[in-house]
Amino acid sequence: PLSASPHRGAFIVLEGVDRCGKTTQVGLLLKHLVVQLGMAAVAMRFPDRTTLVGNLINQYLQSKSELDDRAIHLLFSANRWEVAPTLKSNLLEGKQHVVCDRYAYSGVAFSSAKESLQNDLEWCKSCDVGLPAPDAVIFLDLTQEQAEQRGGYGEERYEKKELQQRVRERFSQLQATDTENGQVPWYVVNAAQSIEEVQQEISAIVEQTIEKVILEEKPLGLLWL
Ligand code: TMP
Repeated sequence: PLSASPHRGAFIVLEGVDRCGKTTQVGLLLKHLVVQLGMAAVAMRFPDRTTLVGNLINQYLQSKSELDDRAIHLLFSANRWEVAPTLKSNLLEGKQHVVCDRYAYSGVAFSSAKESLQNDLEWCKSCDVGLPAPDAVIFLDLTQEQAEQRGGYGEERYEKKELQQRVRERFSQLQATDTENGQVPWYVVNAAQSIEEVQQEISAIVEQTIEKVILEEKPLGLLWL
C-alpha cells in the first residue's frame, strides 16, 4: 500500500524540547521518504520566519523587540494560519506528505509555560483550534539533564533551563488530552538514542501512519475540534 498513490498527503508533526534533535530528524525523514521510498514529500517548519509575521517573531526571539505574552502568542498562531493554505494545498492538491518541524503544540507549550499564562492553557489552545490536524505527532523526548549535556542552550529568548522544564511538562499535558480525545495519535521517541536509532523509530511510525491514511482514505482533520 505504501507505493499506492495517496488521495492526500499525510501530515506528520515532530515536536520536542529544544536540543532534542528535531531539525536533524526532519531532514533525515524527508530524505528517507523522497530518496529511499520515492514519495512526494516536503518539509515545513514553525515559526516560519520568512513571512511578515515570522519576521516579527524572529525579532522577538532574538530579543530585538518586546511584546506582551498574549501578543506574541497570537503572532505565533497567526503565523500558522497564514501558512495554513499552503500546508493544505501541499497535502490535498499536491498530495505530498508534509513533515513539520514544530506546530501548535509548541505554541501552547511555550506560551503556557510562562507565569503570566500558566492558568490559561485553554485560551492558548483556542487560537489554533480548526487548523489542519496532524495524522501523527512524534515527540522526541529528552530529559532536562540530557538536553543540558548536549552543550547547553543557545542565545534565544526561550533557551532557559526553568522554562524548558515547564515546557516539557506542558507537552505531556497536551499529549494526555489528545490521547483522551482520541483524535491525534502521539508517539514518544527516546531522543537520547543515537541519531540512527531515533531515525529508524521515526521512519517506522511514519510509514505506518502513511499506510493508514492511504488504506482508510482518512480525511484531513481539524485540530482540537
Ligand atoms: P525554532 O528554534 O524551532 O525556530 O523555534 C524558536 C522558538 O520558538 C522555540 O524556542 C520554540 C518557540 N515557539 C513558540 O514559542 N511558539 C510557537 O508557536 C512555536 C512554533 C515555537
